[in-house]
Amino acid sequence: MALPRTIAIDGPAGAGKSTIGALVAERLGYLFLDTGAMYRAIALAAQRWEIDPDDAERLTALAHEARVTIGPATKRDGRAYTVLLDGSDVTWEIRSADIDHSVSQVARVPGVRDAMVAQQRALAQRGRVVMVGRDIGTVVLPNADRKIFLTASAGERARRREEELATRGEHRPRQELLHEILRRDQLDSERVTSPLKAAPDAVVVQTDGLEVRDALERVLGAIARPD
Ligand code: CDP
Repeated sequence: MALPRTIAIDGPAGAGKSTIGALVAERLGYLFLDTGAMYRAIALAAQRWEIDPDDAERLTALAHEARVTIGPATKRDGRAYTVLLDGSDVTWEIRSADIDHSVSQVARVPGVRDAMVAQQRALAQRGRVVMVGRDIGTVVLPNADRKIFLTASAGERARRREEELATRGEHRPRQELLHEILRRDQLDSERVTSPLKAAPDAVVVQTDGLEVRDALERVLGAIARPD
């Protein structure tokens, strides 16, 4: 069986898409693109420019003007990649609680999505790419060679997010994280444009109770044996 050109991994907040996606890309020697980081960078730009998250017109203009680039890690501080916004390193800043809170509002604006999706498709043209997000298998790359929908219960996802933050020395109560995850799930699933959902041809991987390496093996298994 020929190697897939494009692998789409979608799923809700904190399901482990970024961790698993990066490991899959590393294992296969593919490019890894975390599309959530692009929406986060636009949400940060909106915050800096004091644009209201409900101002679709200004957000759309911003998404076309802002230069967001995601490339190989430029520092060894635990990052999987470096995110630049208009040339400055915002890799950690886009992970703040403020951005967690505003990103889904920014990402539901159709004009913002159009600008991001165009960039994502251009990157996928080269092939050998693992792209992770919410709408990759449904909208960005509907013809992706492999589609995975990675998921876990909200409680498990909040627990993982708590652990992930703790490794960076940040402590946020699990209840608060759970609340934020449920809010984001709702905004992402109920929006009109490109809502979060599994593509009909995606392999659903439930990761409750699985260690990262077990979830990784399941995903690699689904990639190797698509049916
Ligand atoms: O890392 P986490 O799962 O918390 O979220 P993320 O993947 O960084 O995505 C942040 C937000 O960006 C999501 O909650 C969505 O609102 C939005 N997003 C999207 O709309 N479409 C994508 N392809 C990726 C992210």
